[in-house]
Amino acid sequence: SGTAPSAPIAANAVPAAAPVSKDVTVLYGSQTGNSHGLAKKLSKKLEEQGSLVTLSSMSDFKPNGLKKIQNLLILVSTHGEGDPPDNAIAFHEFLHSKRAPQLEGLRYSVLALGDTSYEFFCKTGKDFDLRLEELGAKRLAPRVDCDVDFDEPASEWAKHVLSALSEGSAAPAVAGAAGVSAASDTESEYSRTNPFRAEVLENLNLNGRGSDRETRHLEISLEGSNLQYEPGDSLGIYPENDLRLVDELIAAMGWNADELVAVGKNGEQRSLRDALHSHYEITVLTKPLLEHAAQLAEGWALKELVAAGREQDLRAYIQERDLLDLVQDYGLKGIPAGQFVTILRKMPARLYSIASSSKASPDEVHVTVRAVRYESNGRNRYGVCSVHLAERIQPGDTLPIYIQQNSNFKLPANPETPIIMIGPGTGVAPFRAFLAEREELGVEGKSWLFYGDQHFATDFLYQIEWQRWLKDGVLSRMDVAFSRDTDKKVYVQHRMLEKSKELYKWLQEGACVYVCGDEKKMAHDVHSALATILEQEGGLSPEEAAEYLIRMQQQKRYQRDVY
Ligand code: 2AM
Repeated sequence: SGTAPSAPIAANAVPAAAPVSKDVTVLYGSQTGNSHGLAKKLSKKLEEQGSLVTLSSMSDFKPNGLKKIQNLLILVSTHGEGDPPDNAIAFHEFLHSKRAPQLEGLRYSVLALGDTSYEFFCKTGKDFDLRLEELGAKRLAPRVDCDVDFDEPASEWAKHVLSALSEGSAAPAVAGAAGVSAASDTESEYSRTNPFRAEVLENLNLNGRGSDRETRHLEISLEGSNLQYEPGDSLGIYPENDLRLVDELIAAMGWNADELVAVGKNGEQRSLRDALHSHYEITVLTKPLLEHAAQLAEGWALKELVAAGREQDLRAYIQERDLLDLVQDYGLKGIPAGQFVTILRKMPARLYSIASSSKASPDEVHVTVRAVRYESNGRNRYGVCSVHLAERIQPGDTLPIYIQQNSNFKLPANPETPIIMIGPGTGVAPFRAFLAEREELGVEGKSWLFYGDQHFATDFLYQIEWQRWLKDGVLSRMDVAFSRDTDKKVYVQHRMLEKSKELYKWLQEGACVYVCGDEKKMAHDVHSALATILEQEGGLSPEEAAEYLIRMQQQKRYQRDVY
């Protein structure tokens, strides 16, 4: 979470026709930390190659420095409905505004991270790439759009960029230069691509009897891994698919479960059942998957669905179904297993906000996971990882895990700074980590928690801990909203609005605001509530309130961990 280094030296030292300058600015826009991790690795490689690197979050970067830059590398992810990550919003807006300068002197390349199961796949990266071209900048290397399994494409892109930048320069030869791997930069040998098999110590249901919810509290041992984390970081967990679903899929395809198929880069042989159990994703559909399946399918129905002009139908189908539906609805039976598995995505890890402080719980990491179960299209559906943890993992079992650093969700550097935490449901997890950390460090700063869920009696996660922290003064204030205990729904944002005077006072005192939980509805409504409070109590116009919040985001006084 360090601050950005100062801008690179002025460009006037370099004659126009000079070979390549070695000044490179690497900007990342990152929500969960993947682009940040890649940007750090790339910067290291560039430095080894003799470049003078300025590595910065987009939110720390002063855009009026753009004209002085010769080489710009952008690594950025996309969220929700094609939105930029929080720390990219202001830069994205600036570049697309009339204030953006012409950039004929600039060479650039974009690495876009995204997920093909979303409609606006890699939209933010595409926006940057096209906009920089419009402004006259020249591509050093073509943009690469990555799906969730981004290591290989990211590495290819980095190789391209490194060799383009080294051309004509006196830097050491880079033939066969290694690409950028996405491993986190902790000391540990374990990372996303080499997960640690961690023992589960505890697995409890936090909800009371009669609740609609099942929320698991897991305590996991990090002993022997050397993995480190800070409050605000996330835990990546690799789940396994439900074997009942695997077997149904195998039956529907008319496959033999024991048939050997090749998995992974080195083509290791595994039984089909095993491969579908733990290596491939079978519950999420993506557009590329449907396109490939259409090529393998006999009939025309699927070819028609993926044909141009049916985007809305395709999106609607993808959102509601899984692979078993696809196979049954489009008669894919008969496609050989060895061929079919090559079009599947590798099972991605699921990220959970860490709910513990490593200072308070050494060698342990805790997470808060809500089991996702629902019915749709005539079948019960289960969240892959959450239900795996709820139903099939017991103390003594092991899970492949890693730490995902998240510099976008960190306690203030100054321990005196007041913090306002808004985290309904499982969104409260990182705040348990924040308060455990503050308690352990004996921090003096004020803190205020807004929490909500359906029912007080059964859904008040970690109730005893908050009450103890309130009593001990680690937590200064707490407001709760139980949405289904009264006729009218009350949510956290309603509590915020009720306390708007006091909340505004805290903002005036420099409080940091943290929001964790549901992105689509809650985080959006909480954002509106903050704007309303600024308008009501501070007399700002709607535009001024919006700008105030963007400024808070840039100053890291407004941080979100939303999903
Ligand atoms: P509900 O399920 O009764 O609608 C945690 O999931 C809590 O967040 C629940 O009490 C849930 O209420 C509530 N919630 C649902 N939508 C919300 C929104 N737009 N803003 C804030 N809280 C919301």
